[in-house]
Amino acid sequence: MSINTPDTNIILIVDDSPIHLKVLSESLVNAGYEVAVAINGETALKQALYEPPDLILLDIQMPGMDGFETCQQLKAHPSTQAVPIIFMTALADTSSKIKGLKAGAVDYLTKPFQQEEVLARIKVHLQIKDLTQSLLEKNLLLDQLNHKLKHLVLEKDIQLQEADKLSSMGQMMAGITHEINNPLGFVIGNANQVEEFLQDLLTHLQLYQKFYPNPAVPIQNHAEEIDIGFLMADLPEMIASIKQGSLLIKEISTSMRIFAKVDGKNKVLFNIHDGMNSTLLILNHRLKANEHHPEIQVIKKYGKIPEIECFPGQLNQVFMNIIANAIDALEESNQGKTYAEIIASPNQITISTELTPDQTQVLIRIADNGTGIPEEICSQLFNPFFTTKPVGKGTGLGLSISYQIVVDKHQGKLECYSRNGQGTEFVIAIPVHAPKC
Ligand SMILES: Nc1ncnc2c1ncn2[C@@H]1O[C@H](COP(=O)(O)OP(=O)(O)OP(=O)(O)O)[C@@H](O)[C@H]1O
Ligand SMILES: [Mg+2]
Repeated sequence: MSINTPDTNIILIVDDSPIHLKVLSESLVNAGYEVAVAINGETALKQALYEPPDLILLDIQMPGMDGFETCQQLKAHPSTQAVPIIFMTALADTSSKIKGLKAGAVDYLTKPFQQEEVLARIKVHLQIKDLTQSLLEKNLLLDQLNHKLKHLVLEKDIQLQEADKLSSMGQMMAGITHEINNPLGFVIGNANQVEEFLQDLLTHLQLYQKFYPNPAVPIQNHAEEIDIGFLMADLPEMIASIKQGSLLIKEISTSMRIFAKVDGKNKVLFNIHDGMNSTLLILNHRLKANEHHPEIQVIKKYGKIPEIECFPGQLNQVFMNIIANAIDALEESNQGKTYAEIIASPNQITISTELTPDQTQVLIRIADNGTGIPEEICSQLFNPFFTTKPVGKGTGLGLSISYQIVVDKHQGKLECYSRNGQGTEFVIAIPVHAPKC
């Protein structure tokens, strides 16, 4: 056994002949190596595992465990598998050499030894070992750097995409709302005026009919032609539905404005229910009945919650992503079902809000009775680019962006509970008061 110093290489010599051990040890010590010796395979193994040497000179023919087996066992052990092994034997036949190299030896020395040759070979193999080691370390470092770089690029990419997605959508919606609001103002204003004028005209006409029940023939003919009775009954209803329609447009446009709030630098107080309602209105075209499915029922169980300090536009984006995923999952669960079957157990999205008992957080639950999520993919949901949807349908960014918004931007929590085949629930927790960070 020897004491290792950082600069000296330890060579373990394994040989059952004390004479060989002595001669070799002396020449290696003279050449500046630390030497350890073992007289059989078993001891060699123990010793090498206790303190792995830098190189092993291993005799092939030994009583008990021979050199080949000792070599195999050393190669099978993680702490000794990288130690170069040079076989030594009196055998010069090719098959032994091949067997030795197959067992994992790096070289072969045939007895009797030439001292210079032994030293030269040991030196070369120690150099190779050092180079391999430093190559491995550099590779590891390179791998780590590569990993970090990939992570940074991805992170930056996601943030850019997120910012891009949010700002271009926000701007587009703000633009559309603005364009709609002006003409909508005329329509609503004039519809009220038209309703009033029309009422006057109708009253006037009724007075004519009352006091001049038998007007001239052309007037009677024209009244019949235009079906004046129907016209007088229907016109007020038509005006009422124009007013109703334009009020609905106004509601949608207000929702778009709430939904597409372009967030400033600081968090502001926001009514989560307004955000949720506006998001649902924007998604209404996907919720109402169409040729693929009957109406998706939205069950709201809004609790009494205060306004919360947040970035409203970003939270709306989270609601949008999660509800859109729920609709996708419901549509997928409808595959292979008839319209009647779906009506019998209807597609549902349940949205509930509540304040935690300690009143510090608002919990928003969005649940669907769609496909559910297989357990093995639950842990991957929030990874960027993870999607199970066909190319072109999903980018796999919705949930990872939502996670960043909830967790990083709002110091909240976003969790998913799902049972495959039975539906999914996402729970968003947002602090009522933005924590100071
Ligand atoms: N409510 C849900 N029910 C079932 N699976 C869901 C649900 N929500 C998310 N998933 C699964 O999580 C995956 C990732 O969702 P994510 O919103 O991040 O990406 P995506 O919807 O595939 O694409 P997009 O970027 O367009 O949102 C989905 O592809 C889907 O497999
Ligand atoms: Mg999605």
